[in-house]
Amino acid sequence: MQGKAATAATTSSWTIRGVGATYHSLVSLLIAAMFIAIISLTTHRTAEQQEQLQLRGAVTGQLAPEPSQFQQSVPLEQEESLQLEEKLTEPSSMQQEQTYTDTEDPVSLSTSSSASECDLSSGTWVFDNITYPLYLEKECKYILDEFSCEKFGRKNFTYRNWRWQPHACDLPRFNATRLLELLRNKRLVYVGDSLNRGQWNSMVCLVQSVIPDPFQSLSYPYNGSLIVFKASEYNATVEFYWAPMLVESNSDNPRLHRLPERVIRVKAIEKHATRWTDADFLVFDSYLWWRTTPLITVLWGSFESEDGIYKDMESLRAYKMALSTWSDWLEVHVNRSKTRLFFASLSPTHQKAEDWGGVRGNNCYEETEPISCAIQGYRGSGTDPRMTRLVEEAIVNLGSRGLAVEILNVTQLSEYRKDGHPSIHKRQWRPLTEEQKADPTKYADCFHWCIPGVPDVWNELLYARLLQITPPQS
Ligand SMILES: *[C@@H]1O[C@H](CO)[C@@H](O)[C@H](O)[C@H]1NC(C)=O
Ligand SMILES: *[C@@H]1O[C@H](CO)[C@@H](O)[C@H](O)[C@H]1NC(C)=O
Ligand SMILES: *[C@@H]1O[C@H](CO)[C@@H](O)[C@H](O)[C@H]1NC(C)=O
Ligand SMILES: *[C@@H]1O[C@H](CO)[C@@H](O)[C@H](O)[C@H]1NC(C)=O
Ligand SMILES: *[C@@H]1O[C@H](CO)[C@@H](O)[C@H](O)[C@H]1NC(C)=O
Ligand SMILES: *[C@@H]1O[C@H](CO)[C@@H](O)[C@H](O)[C@H]1NC(C)=O
Ligand SMILES: *[C@@H]1O[C@H](CO)[C@@H](O)[C@H](O)[C@H]1NC(C)=O
Repeated sequence: MQGKAATAATTSSWTIRGVGATYHSLVSLLIAAMFIAIISLTTHRTAEQQEQLQLRGAVTGQLAPEPSQFQQSVPLEQEESLQLEEKLTEPSSMQQEQTYTDTEDPVSLSTSSSASECDLSSGTWVFDNITYPLYLEKECKYILDEFSCEKFGRKNFTYRNWRWQPHACDLPRFNATRLLELLRNKRLVYVGDSLNRGQWNSMVCLVQSVIPDPFQSLSYPYNGSLIVFKASEYNATVEFYWAPMLVESNSDNPRLHRLPERVIRVKAIEKHATRWTDADFLVFDSYLWWRTTPLITVLWGSFESEDGIYKDMESLRAYKMALSTWSDWLEVHVNRSKTRLFFASLSPTHQKAEDWGGVRGNNCYEETEPISCAIQGYRGSGTDPRMTRLVEEAIVNLGSRGLAVEILNVTQLSEYRKDGHPSIHKRQWRPLTEEQKADPTKYADCFHWCIPGVPDVWNELLYARLLQITPPQS
């Protein structure tokens, strides 16, 4: 078994690459994004509410605007309290009994094709309520409210019962102990926006059940820009770093930022990157924040300096520049014999039911089944293949400079999952009001994903790769 893993590592294995798609409707996306979390923010908040918001806010940087009066009223003490390490010590009754029946092989091939030919991103969703979900929402105390669909009233849980079945092979069964062994003395860091935070959150839930409570903790260094889940027995961490545009921007505060008025320093990444460059495994993403307006404001110079130059630029062009800044940093600073790099492909949205033959004006709200995988290569109108191409170009370019980045190709498999979004069953800064819940066409979140759910499968793809590329430890 280990021999196979080692062989796969040297022959460099599967293609988890790529994406494809169409481009429409920036405007509807913008409007929807704005509505997601304009959650009665104009109402007066008591000091207590404010504090709750601060605490929740430590881990809920969001894909939506914040009112400026809120930004002005943040007491500094509360910001600083975020630097305190939060030790979570819940009764051990919360631990979950895992009942995995793992196959020993990293990849058990169902056909004669070799692992190097198996494209994990090409496959089909299979209903499987025996092995899925891999954990329950109430068994993972770390699930953020923005992904807690059951807690916020979702009643149909069929979305948790789908297994991704690649055409040419099986995904290895997720084994949390095995993964923690792979991560021993290592850092796995997810860097990007709230979609990546969802994947981080899923990974934490996937591993936490096998760790006794005194040996797990959560902390928020750098004012909450980083969230660190630590498994102390393994000296392993699973971290999320908030940088929705990868490069520096005025949205770098994980709680206080405004999507519509974002300004990016397209040439600046050092402030962020020094906090994750030495990680062992890096998983990047950045997509939706570039999608909301055709133009984006780019700043040359610093936010503080008087003579900075501001220029509105086509978002795609700015994205390309940001990827170039990101590439340049990686090329120079990454230790090639230590760090493995992944880029999660774009996470599709389900804002328009007409895309999949539903009623015009509806969205993902009350969807309970995936789009049929028989519709080969289904692609929603929220998916912009031009952005995928820019990422691929950046990665090919880095490859030619001797640095390998793998695409975690989650786009196509997620395209089918119109049933996997929170819609109105979530809480961003505060629960939706009854009026808002009654208007899902405006307030449903069809961007993020419920946990447990689709991001678990993204992590299973990542797990499959980590099994292949990490040499067996003695
Ligand atoms: C990602 O996976 C889908 C489905 O297999 C495939 O159509 C697409 O070409 C892949 N993208 C890349 C860049 O490999
Ligand atoms: C999970 O991995 C651990 C460590 O490699 C191993 O001891 C255990 O048998 C695995 N669990 C299953 C169910 O295969
Ligand atoms: C799984 O699904 C089948 C078919 O819908 C159903 O009969 C069965 O009760 C379900 N099992 C569980 C454990 O939910
Ligand atoms: C959930 O949705 C599925 C698919 O539409 C349906 O078959 C099932 O009966 C629903 N379950 C409940 C509890 O409503
Ligand atoms: C713990 O892990 C970190 C990386 O996250 C590493 O730098 C450090 O050396 C490890 N400590 C020990 C005692 O191995
Ligand atoms: C945290 O925020 C405070 C106040 O905004 C700032 O002075 C400090 O430099 C920040 N610390 C870090 C590590 O970013
Ligand atoms: C790069 O990483 C390897 C493996 O961890 C380590 O031995 C080496 O010292 C590192 N190189 C530098 C320049 O830090």
